[in-house]
Amino acid sequence: MNDMRLMERVVDDTRIKISAKDVQVWYGDSHAIKDVNIDILDKTVTAFIGPSGCGKSTFLRTLNRMNDTIPICRVEGEILLDGENIYDRKVDPVQLRARVGMVFQKPNPFPKSIYDNVAYGPRIHGLTRNKAELDEVVESALKKAALWKEVKDRLTAPGTGLSGGQQQRLCIARAVATSPEVLLMDEPCSALDPIATAQVEELIDELRENFSVVIVTHSMQQAARVSQKTAFFHMGNLVEYGDTTQIFTKPSDPRTESYITGRIG
Ligand SMILES: Nc1ncnc2c1ncn2[C@@H]1O[C@H](COP(=O)(O)OP(=O)(O)OP(=O)(O)O)[C@@H](O)[C@H]1O
Ligand SMILES: [Mg+2]
Repeated sequence: MNDMRLMERVVDDTRIKISAKDVQVWYGDSHAIKDVNIDILDKTVTAFIGPSGCGKSTFLRTLNRMNDTIPICRVEGEILLDGENIYDRKVDPVQLRARVGMVFQKPNPFPKSIYDNVAYGPRIHGLTRNKAELDEVVESALKKAALWKEVKDRLTAPGTGLSGGQQQRLCIARAVATSPEVLLMDEPCSALDPIATAQVEELIDELRENFSVVIVTHSMQQAARVSQKTAFFHMGNLVEYGDTTQIFTKPSDPRTESYITGRIG
């Protein structure tokens, strides 16, 4: 099979996981996200890039209803997860967030042990039948997050006692422990050193085999390394969305070009 046909087959394998339709977000009177339409693919890493304040985090939070927790925030439009609107009244946001997990820029471990942080999701969602199964899920999540070796002898120590970079990897382990279908990551590597960053990037690439990953990043290098699709936001608008290689080599909008070449942002 020649390369082109192979590419086509690979593209056929990916399907739409999340479809955002006419999404608007307001904080009070301030219009933070303006009429965004985007299809996010399954088994794909999608990078959200754009200057500070353009709405990347705000839009990311619409994808698992994290904006519900901000009283002045109002979301309009539809976010379809496997075709079902997550803003529908019958959707339970807690169940939703087990399917669409999130890792924040600032690590936020619970004031619990390392073990209990990772076991939290599987416990509240009843994902394991006994202690041995839970132990296995915790170990596997910590391994995926490249933290196991550092913490395996102190699983009962508080998660808040870890270094910043370790805390972030703990939060990644906590998020992957429920085997989410979609993982949202808001600048997950900003507190990490280059080694941990490389490990997290490797994890993101592994997760892509089974899940959809959306990552907000200020690093063009990181976006180019880990993502297959890139969305460029500017002042609340989704300016351009396409294959990462195309966005970085032949952007079609002058605003994208200015940003990736370092002239704005
Ligand atoms: N909780 C909030 N209350 C009021 N306004 C907010 C809130 N969060 C964000 N905003 C505003 O919404 C706009 C988009 O912010 P957002 O945090 O989504 O940007 P961002 O692209 O993630 O920026 P950065 O790269 O700095 O993280 C900004 O004008 C910001 O001030
Ligand atoms: Mg942000």
